Amino acid sequence: MSRIDALLSAMTIEEKIGQLNMVASTRAVTGPGDIREDDGSIRAGRIGSVLNLWGASDVRRAQRLAVKESRLGIPLLICHDVIHGHRTIFPVPLAEACAFDPHLWEKTARVAAQEASEDGITLTFAPMLDIGRDPRWGRIVEGPGEDPWVASQIARAKTIGYQGSDLASRQCIAATAKHFGAYGAVTAGREYASAEVSERTLREIYLPAFAAAIEAGVAAIMPAFNDIAGMPMTINAALLQGELRERLSFEGVVISDYNAIAELLNHGVARDIVEAASLALKAGVDIDMTSNAYLEGLPVALSRGLISIEEINASVRRVLILKERLGLFENPDRSAPPAVVTDATRHERRSLSREAARRSIVLLTNKDGILPLLNDIQRLALIGPLVDAREPMLGSWASAGHEEPILSISDGLRQALPTCHINVVSGVTIDGEGRKAIDEARACAQKAQVIILCIGENAEMSGEAASRVDIGLPGEQQALAQAMLSLGKPVIALLTSGRPLVAPWLFERADAVLATWSLGSEAGAAIADVVLGRFNPGGKLPVSWPRHVGQAPLYYSQRPTGRPTQVGVHYSSCYIDSPATPQFPFGHGLSYSVFTLHDLVCKTPLIKLNDRLQICVSVRNESAEAGEATIFFFIRDLVASVARPVLELKGVQKLYLEAGKCENIVWSLPARELAFVGQNLESVIEAGDFQIFVGQSAAPESLIVECFKVIL
Ligand code: BGC
Repeated sequence: MSRIDALLSAMTIEEKIGQLNMVASTRAVTGPGDIREDDGSIRAGRIGSVLNLWGASDVRRAQRLAVKESRLGIPLLICHDVIHGHRTIFPVPLAEACAFDPHLWEKTARVAAQEASEDGITLTFAPMLDIGRDPRWGRIVEGPGEDPWVASQIARAKTIGYQGSDLASRQCIAATAKHFGAYGAVTAGREYASAEVSERTLREIYLPAFAAAIEAGVAAIMPAFNDIAGMPMTINAALLQGELRERLSFEGVVISDYNAIAELLNHGVARDIVEAASLALKAGVDIDMTSNAYLEGLPVALSRGLISIEEINASVRRVLILKERLGLFENPDRSAPPAVVTDATRHERRSLSREAARRSIVLLTNKDGILPLLNDIQRLALIGPLVDAREPMLGSWASAGHEEPILSISDGLRQALPTCHINVVSGVTIDGEGRKAIDEARACAQKAQVIILCIGENAEMSGEAASRVDIGLPGEQQALAQAMLSLGKPVIALLTSGRPLVAPWLFERADAVLATWSLGSEAGAAIADVVLGRFNPGGKLPVSWPRHVGQAPLYYSQRPTGRPTQVGVHYSSCYIDSPATPQFPFGHGLSYSVFTLHDLVCKTPLIKLNDRLQICVSVRNESAEAGEATIFFFIRDLVASVARPVLELKGVQKLYLEAGKCENIVWSLPARELAFVGQNLESVIEAGDFQIFVGQSAAPESLIVECFKVIL
């Protein structure tokens, strides 16, 4: 008999339900309620996993209670949100998406897994794969941005990065793809709100990244808090069973979100905790995160016949299989013997963080090539509430990163320019009223050759429970910025934020603006590298950047409509008080190099189902700076049985080019990837005419185009 069968036949009902119960430690708070870990419950087998616990000795102690002092000695799953690093913090996910580099995404996840594992953690609640098209929603910061193709690449890279090829390795932890469904589609960007999403949009936009994570072997899935058309995801059997288990063949563990099963009462879909617990279990949620609903509700549900013992057994089996795959039965304390983290390893991890950070920076504007700054600059004024800030550099999920050194913007610039006179004035607080120090800022700025404005959001202004209706600069920062812009000196603005910020006046008036998001432990150093030209920026926006909050939700992959958007045409899909185009399109991001595209050739003007589309294009670096070009490949299906988007991303290639050099890129796509969700909601490829667009962003005017035909 296998270990798992033997355990299942030895376990009492209470012990089985215990395996489905996750409680929180007091180490960190990531949600409401006070269901906490306690020694007695671990000994009694009433707890199967613990959330927010880390640190070798604390984990060892908890595992010892489970393994040595509980009747069946089943180890605990130790879980924590290792989202963009554990000790070494990397850029927030939205920022890291700007690098458009699966190798980088995988490498940072691997280091995060190593550090987490050294701290006894066995499972992370990442990658977060929610498509974010509405910057009012604070959690846009945690995700891959607006595009399903990009999200799928991230899903794959992160899952492989966290999990490696062997979950039992001490270098790896289990990954959880979240928040299954369409969390990013919450109404009006308001956190936890309902989503109304058609089945086609679900299949085409919201689910592909989960399919990619499953294909890459992701160990767990977390359903979202919200409901889709009235069905809270926690009990959404059609999606959790029909899509996840049946269509996508997911065999791993489903973990509820924090307290989500108890919150079914607030949704108004369960009368009491017994009903809530039985609906969630029946829908396929294996583990109850911190709501105590399974512990309290499942025994009663079983006695009333609302659920069967087979349903409980199936969930317990999945949990035990995961513990076995993680090697926890042999080695419950994966942090023993303690890993030796040498200075060299620490240095390597910090270097990776700096590398990821500088590749995540997006140069939004750069008038007259003001950047990079000359390295012999003598007098700099650093103005703004984020100049000396450290925590906001880490972003929304900084885990144990708070215990490690964090480089602020002023740290980075001071280290990079040791002989420059750098004066620092915050001027205003991030969100407060105080304008008192604007005069002081003005006086300081007047003495400088260049003003660097460090403005934006703090870490709590994006992330969970941080939706905003006004996505401009908080507090009095606009007044501060305008005071600086009216001095007649060069102004470079660094925007720290977890979302695109609406500030058309800033983009128009500042000499250069960089999106520096929350870049992690090495933020300051990375920013200095880019500002001083020691690194040539190449980050590209994974989201369309709005000019006005009223444009949300905004994304490049629109359907054409019967009256397509046309500037100056009244009866067209436009606004009468603002252009419909974004401030910066998806894919936008300048470089100190200038690249141009030429000679696009479609080598396969006629393709069949089993063929590959083949494209060739040449990229030229027209500048005196070596740099990395990012080339996007979009398609358009011109006539189909369902209206298809004007552009759909199908591939990205990066190419490093020396100054003045030109190279050809060959790109190909299996014809099968031209499929879409047809009228009957099944995937179809239809014969007909297509266009292939190649460019450095989704800006229509910058794209070059060729045609091809699909024959069946
Ligand atoms: C969040 C999840 C997170 C969980 C555990 C919830 O509030 O929605 O993303 O993994 O807390 O911290």
